Amino acid sequence: MCGIVGYVGVQDAPSIILDGLKRLEYRGYDSAGLAVVQLDGTIGVRREVGKLIKLGELVAAEPVTGQIGIGHTRWATHGEPSQRNAHPHVGTTCEVAVVHNGIIENFLALRQELEAEGCHFTSETDTEVVVHLVERYLSNGANLETAVRQALTRVQGANAFVFLCCHEPDRLIVARIGNAGGITIGFGEGEMFVASDIPAILEHTRDMIFIEDRQMAIVTREGAQVTTLAGEAVEANVHAIPWDPIAAAKEPYRHFMQKEIYEQARSVTDAIRGRADFEAGQVRLEQFTLTQKEAQALEKIIIVACGTSAYAGLVGKFIIESLARIPVEVDYGSEFRYRDPIVNGNAAVLAITQSGETVDTLAAMEEARGKGARLWSIVNVIGSQAMRISDGVILMHAGPEIGVASTKAFTASLVDLYLLGCYLGKLRGTLNDSQLRKQVDQLARLPDFVGHVLEHGDEYNILANEFHDREHFLYLGRGINYPIALEGALKLKEISYIHAEGYPAGEMKHGPIALIDEAMPVVAIAVRDHVYDKMISQIEQVKARGGIVIALATEGDTDIAAKVDHVLFVPPTTPLLSPVINVVPLQLLAYHLAVRLGCDVDQPRNLAKSVTVE
Ligand code: AGP
Repeated sequence: MCGIVGYVGVQDAPSIILDGLKRLEYRGYDSAGLAVVQLDGTIGVRREVGKLIKLGELVAAEPVTGQIGIGHTRWATHGEPSQRNAHPHVGTTCEVAVVHNGIIENFLALRQELEAEGCHFTSETDTEVVVHLVERYLSNGANLETAVRQALTRVQGANAFVFLCCHEPDRLIVARIGNAGGITIGFGEGEMFVASDIPAILEHTRDMIFIEDRQMAIVTREGAQVTTLAGEAVEANVHAIPWDPIAAAKEPYRHFMQKEIYEQARSVTDAIRGRADFEAGQVRLEQFTLTQKEAQALEKIIIVACGTSAYAGLVGKFIIESLARIPVEVDYGSEFRYRDPIVNGNAAVLAITQSGETVDTLAAMEEARGKGARLWSIVNVIGSQAMRISDGVILMHAGPEIGVASTKAFTASLVDLYLLGCYLGKLRGTLNDSQLRKQVDQLARLPDFVGHVLEHGDEYNILANEFHDREHFLYLGRGINYPIALEGALKLKEISYIHAEGYPAGEMKHGPIALIDEAMPVVAIAVRDHVYDKMISQIEQVKARGGIVIALATEGDTDIAAKVDHVLFVPPTTPLLSPVINVVPLQLLAYHLAVRLGCDVDQPRNLAKSVTVE
């Protein structure tokens, strides 16, 4: 998704902006640019297609300086990646510059209206219409703030904007309509920062506010004045962000994804910390208030999520139904609102979203809200939209996840789902105190088990060397590990571009078995649980047809090696927590195959970290 950085203060704006955009590279982009109000009072713009290093070289060759500016990394929606379509955009008079995230749905009608007035467009973007609109109102005598307010009354769709104007070089105007990704404002000493995501400005400040839907902010060196689009003053809460800048840095790892895979012993610990009370044998959820009566009145839970988070939701179904004995449905965020779901006040809709800004998941939440459901969310990014609109929030506490392919946020959400299952089980009486204590105790060694798997990284290089040239993989799992087969396949395809399918193992004979041959490795999750024997049977069906099997097996299983071609061992644990451990070898397998293939692991082609457009 597009990345936005703005600055107003006493430092050189271009260097602050370029550094901030670099910390947003993980969001995926295809061009970049910046604009500053220069010391001579004109707006200087530098834009370049391709990676940020190209923009840096352009700025070095043709310097622009100033103490107020805006920058952008663009993920093309309207108009191909090119210098003229890159943001920032200026209008005919070059008095105003804008950067934008989202889609102006009525841009064509607006463009025709503006062209009829004599506006000359230089790009194919939807963005350009808004800067011409602002210039129109400026020319009618409005100041920048008023001109922006007037312009935004004409704009439809979910959008986030940051404007600057050469006539008012002391301020940025920030505006948000709908869910096009967040806009964060950071407070410095005599300087202020604006960004579409926390990591861009974390090294400058941890004190931030978050602009909500249909809000604007006038940002000057002295601070930020937040209002509604109509102009009513809004009291914005300043959040102290607990993440440290180091957490958002990559070193000493080669990739953010590698770092985040190896951070999981710590991030799983952080997800447990403060919520599992091992002494009392209880679970506490700090931002989650539910009475026993409300819990017992719940008729069902619907989990809505996308991508990897949806697979966490499938695991959550097993966990919550087992511990709290409440029916759980799982829906893709992109499907939920189009099926006229049966939802009412006796249902809870639980969104799982690392970014908290995924537009399909947010739309599902709004649909649920409109049907009277209780809204919960499991979120990683503090201050994100999903967090703000929820009645109850369980934070992942995974720290900034920069790699586009989600890893530590996924395992953190599984821990959160387990904690929620315990919490609901206690309230609904499906877990008595001793049963609850037993479940809580299972969490104690989980970080160790994750760390133990991470100690055995070498064997993945061997597998990557052997299988990097394969074009297809099949992942098989049963029961609570079926979603882990789906997630393992997604990890592989999204970072290595090798086609991979995850399948419930029992379904293999209903079709995919036709694909089995020595060219397509089969990854089978065959840990010692109640469906182990069934998995062995599936493995034998694959082998009988000349297939290659890489098995995930429980340490101490001395039988399986003779049945398969490769074994990746994991420590034994309670079935409901086994997905947290079992996914780690699959993350490492995908990572090493992608590295062996020379893929851009942290910024895979076509992918974005937060999908804020439909
Ligand atoms: C994860 O590896 C993928 N990049 C993607 O499927 C992601 O899980 C999905 O876009 C949902 O993101 P969210 O958790 O931020 O809502």
